[in-house]
Amino acid sequence: MAASRKKAKQAAADAVVHMVEDGMTVGLGTGSTASLAIEALGRRISRENLRVTGVPTSFASERLAREYGIRLGTLDTHGRIDLAFDGADECDPGLNLIKGRGAAHTREKIVAFSAARFIVLIDASKRVDLLGMHMPLPIEVVPMAVAPVMGCLRSLGARPELRMGMKKDGPVVTDQGLWVIDAQFDEGIPDPAVVDRTLLDTPGVLDHGLFLEMATDVLVGLESGDIEHLRRDAAVIRRAD
Ligand code: 5RP
Repeated sequence: MAASRKKAKQAAADAVVHMVEDGMTVGLGTGSTASLAIEALGRRISRENLRVTGVPTSFASERLAREYGIRLGTLDTHGRIDLAFDGADECDPGLNLIKGRGAAHTREKIVAFSAARFIVLIDASKRVDLLGMHMPLPIEVVPMAVAPVMGCLRSLGARPELRMGMKKDGPVVTDQGLWVIDAQFDEGIPDPAVVDRTLLDTPGVLDHGLFLEMATDVLVGLESGDIEHLRRDAAVIRRAD
């Protein structure tokens, strides 16, 4: 990763760690930016002897949190998350997101939905006018449903492709043991709410990477090391309660 980009991600990561308070339950996202925040949180917990419990969104974030000495819980033991942080692949002007480059979007969405505040950490390159302009939309599917889900995606105007492993033959297998289809929308996604509903209504789809009206805050790390803090109007946030 370029040093300037890492500096921007680190700025966002450090900013969210300063928002954590003693006694909080914190959702731990997945990806390079969330990893920087997990590491900084672990360092702060041990420096200040904080009582913080982390709820991880993937095997990757669970392993990293253990390495940094963060006490872990689950949604069974800690059903109410005070603050969840995570990265994103794209963020539109309404703070709607595409996530899932790391194939962790299903658990990430569950944790975000259970959090009072869902704080997204990005660098400025992730801001787009229209979701889907640069990144494909990931969809987690039951393997036997790949063909019908791809047909559904084509009818929505996308070019679907099964995500293949890098250091593994065959498809990427998620933490749930399922597969991922990446759907490229060449002109972007004109109506994300329609794509959201259509996919969730399609048998065999577990979940997809559109996070609509979920982020309460977006911290945009800048290459100067500063951050820009974007907030959503509380009235339009989708939450578990
Ligand atoms: C993983 C994700 C990541 O949060 C997203 O891909 C951003 O990653 P990074 O911070 O490495 O750019 O959704 O499923």
